[in-house]
Amino acid sequence: MAHNRFDGKTALVTGGTSGMGLATARRLRDEGARVIVTGRDPARLAAAADDLGPEALAIANDTTDLAALDALFDTVQVRYGRLDVLFVNAGVGFFPPTDAVTEADFDRVVGVNLKGVFFTIQKAIPLLSSSAAVVINASWALHRGMPDPVHRLDLCQRPGGVEAPPGAFDEDSGVDLQMKMTVRVPGS
Ligand SMILES: NC(=O)c1ccc[n+]([C@@H]2O[C@H](COP(=O)([O-])OP(=O)(O)OC[C@H]3O[C@@H](n4cnc5c(N)ncnc54)[C@H](OP(=O)(O)O)[C@@H]3O)[C@@H](O)[C@H]2O)c1
Repeated sequence: MAHNRFDGKTALVTGGTSGMGLATARRLRDEGARVIVTGRDPARLAAAADDLGPEALAIANDTTDLAALDALFDTVQVRYGRLDVLFVNAGVGFFPPTDAVTEADFDRVVGVNLKGVFFTIQKAIPLLSSSAAVVINASWALHRGMPDPVHRLDLCQRPGGVEAPPGAFDEDSGVDLQMKMTVRVPGS
């Protein structure tokens, strides 16, 4: 039987239309949260909306588009007023041979996995409730090296970049994110 640990709480899951994000959104819903999921693909968004039910909100959003992030958090503010849970999960895996990586590939992967993570958190900060939890879905490469340096493109940027935000964010924001930010490392 589900415990209603999240009764009355509002939870945003970026990349919540698939995989770990969707599974987490289901669990948050089952435990009482009002859930918002985001993603880019319209078909996956529609399927997630059906899956999560009428209380959930599925919003088209690309985390690399800062104007779209502003619009997303405006919507959250108008509808819910605050955020209690932020699961920063939107990301891409990318494992090409070293010599096949293009500049466009690099920009795309770094855009989603680093820039998108940073600005999602930056723009969420004004909406976070005093007891909010921020969880970043990072990578097992935090603890395990990859044999080929360029294969690390997908993964090591998050250990290097996304591990940094707790200290980086609280200093300027006035919000004590040290106490509430968690980095998950799937596969470790
Ligand atoms: N699966 C693993 O073994 C593993 C291991 C380590 C880390 N991770 C990381 O953990 C997270 C979840 O993994 P998963 O396997 O559950 O992923 P997944 O099934 O591929 O789901 C990724 C989600 O992110 C969304 N997304 C991708 N780019 C986006 C963007 N720019 N803006 C908004 N949404 C975006 C996708 O939807 P759209 O494509 O429709 O936007 C989808 O909803 C990812 O960050 C992944 O890199 C996964």
